[in-house]
Amino acid sequence: MVTLDLSFTQAFLREEEWLYFDPFVKNLHERLHNRQVPGSDFTGWLNLPSDILANGLDDILTAGKEIQSECDALVVVGIGGSYLGARAALEWSKPEYYNQLSAEKRGGPEIYFAGNHLSSDGLSDLLNVLQGKRVCLNVISKSGTTTEPAVAFRILRQYLIEQVGEKEAKRRIYVTTGKAKGALHALAVEEGMKAFVVPDDVGGRYSVLTPVGLLPLAAAGVDVLSLVQGAAQMQDSLRSPSVAENAAYRYAAVRNALYRKGKTTEILASYEPALKSFAEWWKQLFGESEGKDQKGIYPSSVAFTTDLHSLGQFIQQGSRNLFETVVRVENAQRDLSLPSETKVDDGLEYLAGKPLSWINEQARLATALAHSDGGVPNILLSVPDRSEKSLGQLFYFFELACAASGLLMGVNPFDQPGVEDYKVNMFALLGKPGYEQEQKDIVARLR
Ligand code: PA5
Repeated sequence: MVTLDLSFTQAFLREEEWLYFDPFVKNLHERLHNRQVPGSDFTGWLNLPSDILANGLDDILTAGKEIQSECDALVVVGIGGSYLGARAALEWSKPEYYNQLSAEKRGGPEIYFAGNHLSSDGLSDLLNVLQGKRVCLNVISKSGTTTEPAVAFRILRQYLIEQVGEKEAKRRIYVTTGKAKGALHALAVEEGMKAFVVPDDVGGRYSVLTPVGLLPLAAAGVDVLSLVQGAAQMQDSLRSPSVAENAAYRYAAVRNALYRKGKTTEILASYEPALKSFAEWWKQLFGESEGKDQKGIYPSSVAFTTDLHSLGQFIQQGSRNLFETVVRVENAQRDLSLPSETKVDDGLEYLAGKPLSWINEQARLATALAHSDGGVPNILLSVPDRSEKSLGQLFYFFELACAASGLLMGVNPFDQPGVEDYKVNMFALLGKPGYEQEQKDIVARLR
């Protein structure tokens, strides 16, 4: 289970400072579960793990197997909440060089992500890699109207039609979108494509345990049932409304207490390369949920020990508005030991025979000490391993913590009104019908 260790925050926060939030948390717990908080229409993720276990995952598992048998490569087309969770879980569960492994070792098709930018070079590079492969597409957009995935999907669909013809292309496209609305839904119905539904009451960044995340993961051979079971275990163990008993609420309270002391940037750190995309998922979750009404803790991330040789200097001695949250994986999947080398003196013989995981752990401890001595509080979250179960636990833990933390800050953690602003400007510049006046204004300003 996820455990929370606050040892390296004690020099910065007394226990009363986070216990102070207890009555507020009890109140928000009640209102959250009774759907009485701002944004309550988007709290379907709260019971999602237990609901999925009750209803089963047959459709997802069947489609996943179908993709495995029919495709060498699956392209997941989506942006933001419509791809970050799947990417995080894929990299967590599978080896770092997954796509380079043989089909047998992979246990699923190669997986690529598209539609998360508008770069022509980026998409061209992907099209090059796809040459000669049997390709499937999973296009994911809850609204069905987001520009980036829509543009990439049009290009990739044309590519697929050129390769295999219209009829076969339709069979190889899996659509994940909102129920009964949006352009993507209409296309899936019109063309008779296989479609999966994003529930209305689950927002993009909370949707990893819907078909948004589960379908591509099932196709890649990730154990999606264990993922959901892990989340359900966490759901079960986070039922208490009390900050002292509920680790997610405690984390939310500690973050808010640190925020009130001027710690306005949180750095998610990990010592495992496999968690890089998990940090991207986490940044979206907290950034989009809390950063509004001129409030919020800015979420950033580092990959240690790599970034100890770049951003480490800033964290140790730069602006003191930082705190760190380390996600620690206690056990390595395959532990290497440092071999003995007596012919050449490379200065490492004192470590001969030591497991790499032990060396990595000493680096973590050394860094926690150094950073907290340097004025950076350090929160530690541990999971036993890189199993799907542990990841499911972390997903649910952070979702609940994020909702609670945003509500403690007095914001609606389930909307993202600020995302619209760039879109209006972009649509105006692109000449989208309906944006004529904005276009005139913007062109005049840019001139
Ligand atoms: O969390 C969110 O709501 C956003 O990040 C969306 O997931 C993102 O904008 C993509 O939206 P859509 O799935 O409608 O294409």
